[in-house]
This record gives sequence, structure tokens and C-alpha cells, in this order.
Amino acid sequence: METTVKNSSSDGEWKVVLPSKGRQGRRRKPKPKGQAEEEEQPWKSDDLEIDPQRQARLKQKMEISLKKIESSNFYTVFLEQLKSPEVSNHIRLVLGSETQLQMVMYGIGSIESYESPRFQLSIAILMKREFDWVGDNIEVFDPVLSATESSYLESLGCSVLSVNEQARREALKPTLFFMPHCEANLYSNLLQANWRMDRLSKIALFGNSFQMYEEQVSFDAEVICATKRIIAAQSVTSEFAIETESDDYFAAFHDSSWHFFSSGIDSELPLFVSDEF
Ligand SMILES: C[S@@+](CC[C@H](N)C(=O)[O-])C[C@H]1O[C@@H](n2cnc3c(N)ncnc32)[C@H](O)[C@@H]1O
Repeated sequence: METTVKNSSSDGEWKVVLPSKGRQGRRRKPKPKGQAEEEEQPWKSDDLEIDPQRQARLKQKMEISLKKIESSNFYTVFLEQLKSPEVSNHIRLVLGSETQLQMVMYGIGSIESYESPRFQLSIAILMKREFDWVGDNIEVFDPVLSATESSYLESLGCSVLSVNEQARREALKPTLFFMPHCEANLYSNLLQANWRMDRLSKIALFGNSFQMYEEQVSFDAEVICATKRIIAAQSVTSEFAIETESDDYFAAFHDSSWHFFSSGIDSELPLFVSDEF
């Protein structure tokens, strides 16, 4: 049972919706209630062949995307926000005594087929160029990536993971999780794997606005299950919304935010969040 966030590329809207059929909606053996939904598994792209012509076209499309974003007002505002005292102070706290954040990118989508994933990837690459605190090696995983896309990503200096971690990576070192418009259960998995302040405090997360999840009241058991940890984390979450600035960047970045986690005098991480329905 997968709760998903509707792809923004089609109509510019994301919301928590019920399981989709198709590639990710394949039938799996039912699991007992409360058991983790998805296990980490080795992964290989379905499409095994690297097509040099497709890769050349993808390179061209990415160059266009990078140029467009770099010269946009959207990017200027995006950088200003990251350099603002408030956000940069959070980044300093995440870094602690380290000098770089490891970037892990989950759920980028098909960069060959859609413009939104290309804009999102462009932003990640431009961040790496702009800020010394972004680690050189970006780790990427999305089960939809083709062999051609993976090979192109590797040519950019990214590492495409061969294991589907189900976003359960433990932040043992300062990590920037770049998860544009991912499914709610992926954010939830990430939080669950790091549900203690010494781990959460090592995370900078780019993804769907947690506040929006809190505002979307649902009476559906699956939706409640997928979002309750996100909502439980609200007491320790500081969120900074992304300004989309123009219609051009709405589909790729709407309802997205930076999230940082720290507890204070009035806020504590709830010790227990049930994983039962
Ligand atoms: C709603 S789409 C967003 C795609 C793209 N970022 C966009 O905004 O158009 C969610 C993406 O998460 C990917 N996904 C699903 N399970 C995943 C997993 N375990 N790890 C990483 N990505 C995953 C899907 O394949 C899909 O491309």
C-alpha cells in the first residue's frame, strides 16, 4: 500500500493521494500491520541499454535547463534565501564540525522525459557549484531512472545507487537530502530512520512542505499513516518555503521547502510515534 504525492509535472498540483497503479504500483505480498512497508533492495534499471543518441539529447536538454535556471529571477531568490542569516545559520548547525554536507537525491523522476526533474537536477548541480559546503559526490536514486539517464548522471559526477534504500538512510554525518516532490512515505521513512535529535540535527531536507501536510486534513487511514511522522516532527522542524517566482518554475518547485530539525526549550521530539494503522 503506497501513499503517493501526485506528480507535479502533469498539472502543477501535488497532493496526498492513494496508491497509483503501474510501475510503482505492482502487487506485493501483503505485510503484517505495523511492519515496514518497503524493504531495502538491490536495484538495477529495467532498461539495460545505454543509448548514446538519447544521452546526447539529454545532455543538450540539461544544458538548456541549467542556462535557463541560472539566469532566472527564481534562482537569484533561491540563492538569496540560502545565503540569508536564518537559513545559513541552520546550515552551519547541520554542518557542526564538518565542512561539507553529503547530498543524497531521492525521487528526481525521469530527467529524459520531463522538464520539472531537469529543473530540479539543475538546481542541485548549481548549488554544488555555488557552495563549498555541498559535497562533490551527489548520490542519486530513483527506480524510474533508465540506464541512459544513470550513465548521464554519472558523467556529471553523481553516483547512482544500486540499492533502493527506501529513503531510510541514517544521517551518521551531515547530509542534505534533496527530495523534490517525493511521496509522503519516503519523507516518513527518512524521519523514522533518524528519529533521535542527534541524527535529525544532521539533516537538511529539501522537499514537500511539511506544513502543507499538516494543513491537509485527511480521514483516510493510509494517508494518516504516511503523514503522521511528518506531523509529529513539526515540533522540532524549522521550515523555509521556496518562492517559485514565475509560472515557469511552479511545476518543479511549488509547495517545496527547506526543513531543519532542532529541539528547543519549548519543543521536544515525541519519543513514540506508532507505525500501526
Ligand atoms: C511524484 S514523483 C516526483 C518526480 C519529480 N521529482 C517531479 O517533481 O516531477 C516521485 C518520484 O519518487 C520516485 N520514487 C519512488 N520510490 C522511490 C524510492 N524508494 N527511492 C527514491 N525515489 C523513489 C518515483 O519513481 C518518482 O519519480
